[in-house]
Amino acid sequence: MSDTQEPRFAWLDLLWLVFLAGLAVLPPLFEVHKQLILLTIGLFQLFERRIMARIPQGRRNAYGILLKILLSSLLLEHTSTVAAIDSSYYPIYYLPVVSAAMIYGGWGTIFWTFVTSAAYCSFLIPAVRLYRLTPDSISELAIRNLFFFLIAVVVNRLVSEFHRQTNRHRLLAEELSETNRKLKLAQDEARRSERLAALGQLSAGLAHEIRNPLGVIKGSAEMLNQKLQSSDPIACELAGYISSEVERLNALVGRFLDFARPLQLDLHPQDITSLIERSLDSVRGLHPSSKIEVRKSFAAGLPQVPLDSELSERVFTNLFQNAYDAMPDGGQLSIAVRRANSDGRRGVEVEVADTGLGIPEENKEQIFNPFFTTKKTGVGLGLSIVSKIVDNHGGSIRVSRRDGDGAGACFKLFFPAAP
Ligand SMILES: Nc1ncnc2c1ncn2[C@@H]1O[C@H](COP(=O)(O)OP(=O)(O)O)[C@@H](O)[C@H]1O
Ligand SMILES: [Mg+2]
Repeated sequence: MSDTQEPRFAWLDLLWLVFLAGLAVLPPLFEVHKQLILLTIGLFQLFERRIMARIPQGRRNAYGILLKILLSSLLLEHTSTVAAIDSSYYPIYYLPVVSAAMIYGGWGTIFWTFVTSAAYCSFLIPAVRLYRLTPDSISELAIRNLFFFLIAVVVNRLVSEFHRQTNRHRLLAEELSETNRKLKLAQDEARRSERLAALGQLSAGLAHEIRNPLGVIKGSAEMLNQKLQSSDPIACELAGYISSEVERLNALVGRFLDFARPLQLDLHPQDITSLIERSLDSVRGLHPSSKIEVRKSFAAGLPQVPLDSELSERVFTNLFQNAYDAMPDGGQLSIAVRRANSDGRRGVEVEVADTGLGIPEENKEQIFNPFFTTKKTGVGLGLSIVSKIVDNHGGSIRVSRRDGDGAGACFKLFFPAAP
């Protein structure tokens, strides 16, 4: 039986006491032993859990049932007029029988019913000394015993059906909560994509408009530079600044347009790990003196993934660059690639985890937004481009805490395999 919390004193317990009191006021009324036994049965039934709590779990049920059989037999002993087997109180044996049927499986129930029946039949021994058994009394006894078994089987069936239903409901509830969780993830992702698309459209127009005047400013600054070459060195230097800053702005706008423009993918099935290696080499090249230890764990026999080499290299370069940025004093960058399934699709999962600063919970959704950055010189376009490229590959990207010590960030990417 499950140990679920029950109210201490249920109204059914009260009824149970009322019924026992009913038995107590029925004849034989002045039999003290009978009253004591009824009281013991009542108390034991009410406080069984607490009383049996000290007995080891494995033996608890068996001892409880044995005690009930014993109390029932004693009750019969003290409520008979001639022989105990004749006592009208024999249905008290239903108590151990029903208890066993509620606790044990089929064979256990049969066994304990058999023991109860044997306890009852044991009263035959003194009875045959008192009077001769007639066929009628034998069939009466057989009927009473058969009813023990009948009740046991019915209760056992009901209880096991109840358990089956409870289990089914539990499984259904678990499935439902898993589905809810997936739905929430999908909603989050959809919201992110929508936001990115709207923002992209809006800003692409703006960026485009900025580019034209930038071109004019740059051209004018260069002309000014040429004109003033010898006459005014200071003005010439200033014109140089204008030109180089415009160049920088232009590059930024270019990067942004890259993000906003619809991507044209040139997909070829390929081994994702060599692409990862290439991106890693290029990021490592930018940080020759960093104290970051890279750990790679690439599963064997990975399926080929249709990828646009240039764009997916940018995905990994951005992720590795962010990891390096997050570990200025060194740390560990772990890259794992394994087979995976997502929504019934076969594919490859890439996990990029670092031991760096980590990402606060409240930023988890934001980091994929364009221009969200926590870095002094950051632009905040890296992850939004990553997210867009992964989306365009039909994949997904999730961020979580790193498993284990809790510090650091962990990005999990899924790319569907070639069909
Ligand atoms: N590995 C990481 N560890 C901690 N924070 C990260 C990591 N990757 C990304 N972030 C957070 O996400 C923000 C956005 O990243 P990104 O879009 O690449 O822009 P940027 O690198 O220019 O800041 C970062 O500023 C940083 O706060
Ligand atoms: Mg970045």
